[in-house]
This record gives sequence, structure tokens and C-alpha cells, in this order.
Amino acid sequence: MTPPRPPSIALAPPPSVRVRAPGKVNLSLRVGALQDDGYHPLVTIFQAVGLSEEVVAHQVPPGAGVSLGVTGLQADVVPTDETNLAWRAAVALAEHVGVDPDVRLEIHKEVPVAGGMAGGSADAAAALVACDALWEAGVPRADLVRLAAGLGADVAFGLVGHTAVGTGRGDVLTPAMTRGEFHWVFAVQADGLSTPEVYRTFDETVGGPADLDLAEDTALMQALRAGDAVGLGQVLRNDLQGPALALRPELQRTLDVATEAGALGAIVSGSGPTVAALARSRQHALAIAASWTANDACDTVWCTTAPAAGARVVAH
Ligand code: C5P
Repeated sequence: MTPPRPPSIALAPPPSVRVRAPGKVNLSLRVGALQDDGYHPLVTIFQAVGLSEEVVAHQVPPGAGVSLGVTGLQADVVPTDETNLAWRAAVALAEHVGVDPDVRLEIHKEVPVAGGMAGGSADAAAALVACDALWEAGVPRADLVRLAAGLGADVAFGLVGHTAVGTGRGDVLTPAMTRGEFHWVFAVQADGLSTPEVYRTFDETVGGPADLDLAEDTALMQALRAGDAVGLGQVLRNDLQGPALALRPELQRTLDVATEAGALGAIVSGSGPTVAALARSRQHALAIAASWTANDACDTVWCTTAPAAGARVVAH
């Protein structure tokens, strides 16, 4: 008689959490005068878009600390040490909950680096959500938003997503009502722009007012509520567009090509150099993308829709 076989033991892989967080475009970005803390007061309307960052947080042995790897678009220029905002997010969360920051973070990039679309901020927002789930910390969303704001001006929006009005440094957020889906095309440049340098150029060339009036965005908010892409295209606004163009004059051609292709509106995204064009439909978005490519007006083109959700767990 053959002896009974011992039960096979399958070792479960260590847990990991996969989180996705969106890039953004500023539908309106109004900038006030430089403050003593080195920041500018803003009134901005963020919209999260379908380009997203993915962060996978893996469990590691106790005491292993934080480590980080990056793949995807422009991954070679992203730091993989403690200067990476996602690394800092993991450390900040660990301090907040009183655990050791032991985690391996793997970032897959889709949002352009230093492109004015808050890709690094999305990584930090995703890392907060991923580590919170991995460490089973259960930090309330409001506390995550507070931690996010301490990491950078755009990180809180990466958590919240959809469409929101940002005041303060852009980190005090109020959700905005929208209807339907908007079609966007993004012209990405291989060479990014430094956000502090764009703000510095703003101070030197234009300078912001002491007070910003929330009422100035009324038409834009109405267009969003009505799902009126034509109306929205007419009122897109970015105070950092002039400074970004001063630093990168060739972006004017990228804007012009989009306008010639019938874009409902074309604007520099945040501090640039990515250019965003609003299209009538997916078909029209593809036509604008083709015009940019044919005119050699950018290095990469993305067609996507908005609004998109904020940082969320997509798989354990
Ligand atoms: O907060 P974050 O690190 O994303 O900001 C990068 C830089 O952009 C800041 O150091 C500052 O120079 C500039 N900035 C600003 N006013 C804001 C947001 C950012 O001057 N509201």
C-alpha cells in the first residue's frame, strides 16, 4: 500500500497593493502675488484625466526600509531615492501611523515627467493610498488629504480626482459639478519645464494681483455643469501660459496647430510644457493628435477623456 502523500504546502506570495492615480489639467489657473513662504495663492479648477500613474506597494521584511523602482514613460529621469515624492509619502504616512516605513514601491509612469500634469504628485497620492492599505492603517481620507497637502501643492488633488476648485496653494479643494465626458488630447515634450522656474518667470514678467476673485470662473463652472465642451473651450485660462511660452517659444506652434485642427480650446497644462487641446469627440481628438504628429509639434501624443477618479486601489 502506498503511504498517503503529505499535504502540499503552497507559500502565499507576500501581499501587495496596486493603486492608480490620475494626472490633471488646469481648466483655469489664476495666480496671485508671491507670498513670504515662496508659494503663490491660486484659484484653479483642476480636472483629473484618463492618463494615470500606477503604484504597487509590496510587503518587505521588517526593517528593510523603503525602496523604489520606476518604469514607463520617461522613467529614466525619475529619481529612485528618498527625493522621490512617493518615497516621501510612504515615510510621512509611516510617521503619521507610528509604523516603520518598510515597503517596496514600483511606479509605472504614463503621465509626463515635469510636464505640468502633476505626475509626481499622482505618484505620491497613490503611494499614500497603497501604503495605507498594505499596512492596514485605516487612515481616514481627510487625514490622507492633510498629509498629501504637506507633500506638495497638487498631491491632495491626486487623491480627490474628478473636477475640483483649488484655492490656497491649490491644496484646499472643493468638488465641482460636471456633466458627461470631455475629450482631451495632450502634446507631450520630452524635455520638461521646472515648475519653480515657470513661477519665477511669472513673477518677473507679469506678477500676480494681491487678491483673486472666485467669481471670475463663473462661465467656466456653468459650462462644466452643462457638459458644454464648446463653452468650456472658450473660457480655458492659464496665467502660467505666458511664462511657459517665454521659456519655450516653440509651444506657440503646438497651440496654433491644435487651433487650426479645430480644437475647442488649446492651453498649456499647468506650468507646462505639455499642451492640452479640448476636442469635440474621440474622432476629433484623434484628428488633432494626427495634426500634431504630422507637424512634428511634440514628442508623444495622448488622447483621453476626463474627468477621472482620484487615487484608488485597483487590486490587492
Ligand atoms: O508644492 P510643489 O512642490 O508641487 O511646488 C513646486 C514649486 O512650485 C514650489 O516650490 C513653488 O516654487 C511653486 N509653486 C508656487 N505656488 C503654488 C504652487 C507651487 O509658487 N501655489
